[in-house]
Amino acid sequence: MLNFHKEHRNLVLTAGGVFIALSTLIAILPAVQMQRTEPIPDEKPLTANEREGLHVYVAENCMACHTQQVRNIEMDKVWGNRPSIPSDYYYSKKRMDFWRQSPSVLGSERTGPDLTNIGNRQPSEDWHLLHLYNPRAVVSASVMPSYPWLFREVDSAAVRKDDKIVAVPKTLFDKPGRKIIASYDALRLVDYLKYLKQTPLPGDNNDDFIPALKKIQAERAESGTAQGLDGGKLYSQVCAACHQETGKGIAGAFPPLAGSTIVNDPNSETLIRVVLQGYDARTDFGVMPPFGDQLTDAEIAAILTHERSSWGNDAAPVTEEDVAKIRQYVEMELNK
Ligand code: HEC
Ligand code: HEC
Repeated sequence: MLNFHKEHRNLVLTAGGVFIALSTLIAILPAVQMQRTEPIPDEKPLTANEREGLHVYVAENCMACHTQQVRNIEMDKVWGNRPSIPSDYYYSKKRMDFWRQSPSVLGSERTGPDLTNIGNRQPSEDWHLLHLYNPRAVVSASVMPSYPWLFREVDSAAVRKDDKIVAVPKTLFDKPGRKIIASYDALRLVDYLKYLKQTPLPGDNNDDFIPALKKIQAERAESGTAQGLDGGKLYSQVCAACHQETGKGIAGAFPPLAGSTIVNDPNSETLIRVVLQGYDARTDFGVMPPFGDQLTDAEIAAILTHERSSWGNDAAPVTEEDVAKIRQYVEMELNK
C-alpha cells in the first residue's frame, strides 16, 4: 500500500503525477485546441497601428471594466449579432513580445459595455477621443475614468499640421490660446476600438444564401423533376461557405464533415435532422441554420450522399425516402 507518512517518495510522485495530469487537462489541452483555431473567412487581421492600439488597451487595463465576449444568453444580444466563438480571437492571439503572452481581451467584468462590436456601434474617432479625454464630456453620468495622460495640452501656435486637436467643450477646458491634442497612443487606441467589429458568419445574414438558393430553385423549376441531382455541386453552392470545399471546416467556427461521426453514422437520422432543423450543440462552433424550407428531400439526399462518400468518408447513400421519413417525424413533433 501507499504509505505517504513514511514513504516520502510516494507522496512526491503521487502529488507530481496529479499535478501533471491536471495541468494537461485544464491548461495544456485547451491551449493546444485554441492554437488550432482558424479565422472566419471575412475576418480582417489587425493592421500595425491597430495592433499597437491593442497594446495600449492592455497597458491601460481597459479589460478591468470591459469584456469582449458575447455569450449565448438573452441579455448579451445587444452586444453582437451572435455569440462569440474561438475564431473571433484569431488575430489577437499573437504574442505581444518576447516577454509577454498573447493578450487576453475577453475580460470578466462588465462595469462598462461589452466592446466586441464597438467599431460598428461607435465609428467616430472624434467621439472616442473626447470620451477618453473625459467620458463625462459625452456621457454625463459615466463612471469611466478619464485618461488625461493620453493627451497633451499645447500652445495653439505650437500645433503642427498632423496633430489631432480634440474638440473639448469650453466647460471642461477653457484656456485661451491653448489646445488639447491626442497623443500617438490615444490615436492608436482609437484605431483599435474602430477595428472591433463582429465578423458576420456566412449565413448570419440570410442574403448571403439567397443567391445560391434562388439559383437552385430556378434550376429546380426549369428541370421540373429531381432527376440527376448533382450532390457535389449543391454542396458547393450551399454548404461549402461554412464547411469548406475540403470538408475540413474551420477550426473554432465550423466543424469538419470529413471524419464526422454524425456524417458517417450508419443510421442517418441525426444527419438528416441537422440539415432540416439546423444545429447548435456546442459553444466552440457557430450556429448552423436550418435548410428544411429551402431544399427538397431529393436535394438533401443528394448532398448527404455526397458528404458520406467524400473526403475519406465511407457510409451508405441517403435516399429521398429517408429524408421524407425524417421530415415527417419533424413535422409531427412540431404539430404536437
Ligand atoms: C472603471 C471602469 C472602466 C474602465 C477602467 C474603462 N471603462 Fe470604458 N466605460 C466604462 C463605463 C461605465 C462606460 C459606460 C458609460 C460611458 O459610455 O462612458 C464605458 C464606456 C466605454 C465606451 C463606450 C461604449 C459604448 O457602447 O458606448 C468605450 C469605447 C470605452 N468605454 C472604452 C474604454 C477604453 C478604451 C478603456 C481603457 C483605456 C476603458 N474604457 C476603461 C467603464 C470603464
Ligand atoms: C452558416 C454556416 C453553415 C452552413 C451554410 C452549413 N452548416 Fe453545417 N454546421 C454549421 C455549424 C456552425 C455546425 C456546428 C454546430 C454546433 O455543433 O453547435 C454545423 C454542423 C453540421 C453537421 C454536424 C457535424 C458534426 O460532426 O458535428 C453536419 C452534418 C452539417 N453541419 C451538415 C451541413 C450541410 C449538409 C450543409 C448544407 C446543406 C451545411 N451543414 C451548411 C454551419 C453551417
